[in-house]
Amino acid sequence: MASTYLLTDLPKIKEFWESVGSDSTSKKPEITPGIAPHDALYYDRLKEVWADFCDTIGVNKSSTEERLSKSALILRREMVKKKYEVQDRSQVIETSSVNRGLQWLFTIPLGSQLSTYEKHLDYLSAALGGVDIEIESAGVGLGRMLARTVDPLEGSRDVAIYHSLTSETAVRMGRREDGQDLYIDMADAGHTIIQGQTRSGKSVFLYGLLSQLAYVDCVKIWGIDPNHVLLGPFRGLTPQIVLGTDPLAHLELLEEFVARMDSRIASLVTEGIEKISDFTPESPVEVLVLEEYASIIRGAEIYDCTQKPADRVGNKIKALVARIFAEGAKAGMRVILVIQRADASLVDGSTRANAVNRLTMGVDNGDAVRMLHPGASPELIEAITHFKNGRLFASIQREDTIAQADYIDYQDYRRAVQLSETAPAPIDYP
Ligand SMILES: Nc1ncnc2c1ncn2[C@@H]1O[C@H](COP(=O)(O)OP(=O)(O)OP(=O)(O)O)[C@@H](O)[C@H]1O
Ligand SMILES: [Mg+2]
Repeated sequence: MASTYLLTDLPKIKEFWESVGSDSTSKKPEITPGIAPHDALYYDRLKEVWADFCDTIGVNKSSTEERLSKSALILRREMVKKKYEVQDRSQVIETSSVNRGLQWLFTIPLGSQLSTYEKHLDYLSAALGGVDIEIESAGVGLGRMLARTVDPLEGSRDVAIYHSLTSETAVRMGRREDGQDLYIDMADAGHTIIQGQTRSGKSVFLYGLLSQLAYVDCVKIWGIDPNHVLLGPFRGLTPQIVLGTDPLAHLELLEEFVARMDSRIASLVTEGIEKISDFTPESPVEVLVLEEYASIIRGAEIYDCTQKPADRVGNKIKALVARIFAEGAKAGMRVILVIQRADASLVDGSTRANAVNRLTMGVDNGDAVRMLHPGASPELIEAITHFKNGRLFASIQREDTIAQADYIDYQDYRRAVQLSETAPAPIDYP
């Protein structure tokens, strides 16, 4: 059998704890990126990980208490501290380097079976820093395992609709190049701009984000969507959604959002606090999604051609959006602006400067990259211009990484949003 889990996949970890009967789910698994299996250091590490792995799954007759006290995190820490010299345990007796990986032979102690290891391979894979693992028998009392490195960016995982361990408002969006999960946390102050050429994966990224946020009680979604697709599933669930191309309706929604922002800012002053950072269902973080922003602005400009100056809406819309970018963060108001290219004519410099999350999916030229990431190197630009669907360069809270976005298809997204009204999140990880 083979399994590929580059990271500790949280539902798998949960399953793991259930299978060993642990009640220590309050301990957060903390997974750091692994060392490549062809690295010499890995050999030593393997032995330590192996000993702990065997302890944890119980193939070396360690006491129940000892097993129960181990979490993935402890396993990580302990393995550097401990030296194991017990003889009646499973041991790695030979390691050899193979293409992109490592193969090792291990003893299977009396009373244990290969299937015991097999059941927990995902966990071992995660503990080794994310590798593809295969296992087979190598004779009586012997097993052979093969661990290979895999490209963390290869292939998209499914969007996981569950809450993160660290924060209810943080949602898993993809996998980073270092093998760790990419998170976006709406509680973090700041706005988001997502750019990428047509078919690069912007909308799918939003499906992933919104299908998860829909389940978070302390997040309230607002939005404008000229073509009905992205925000259509929210119709009937929240009144703060405008579908279609009517510029007056767009303007009205933005005015409402700004009025809400102003009243929150006023309450900050009366309460003597600097910014809202604790969110509750009564006082949620309010997230305004502007899908196809260029078409919102162009629609307004076309409308304006036939209007008297006082009735024109294009500049008003831009000015309101600029105000939200400048002042919304402290008031617990966020914007997610989606656009094919964050051109200066549509998104001005100060608006871009106020976006602390800047995501660029595939674009066809360097100017577009530099628009959001002025310091991008020629190598990075080259990489971005060759991005496949769902690949992105993410600068989140000023931390930069390349990542592969998780995938969810439109029907699943629609269903997730619709069900969020009545049901708790499908997987509610503690
Ligand atoms: N994370 C992903 N993993 C795998 N495939 C993806 C991913 N994201 C998008 N795709 C594929 O790319 C296609 C286009 O994605 P999407 O509709 O999100 O593009 P877009 O950037 O919103 O384009 P447009 O600007 O035209 O609206 C999807 O239909 C899907 O097949
Ligand atoms: Mg789209």
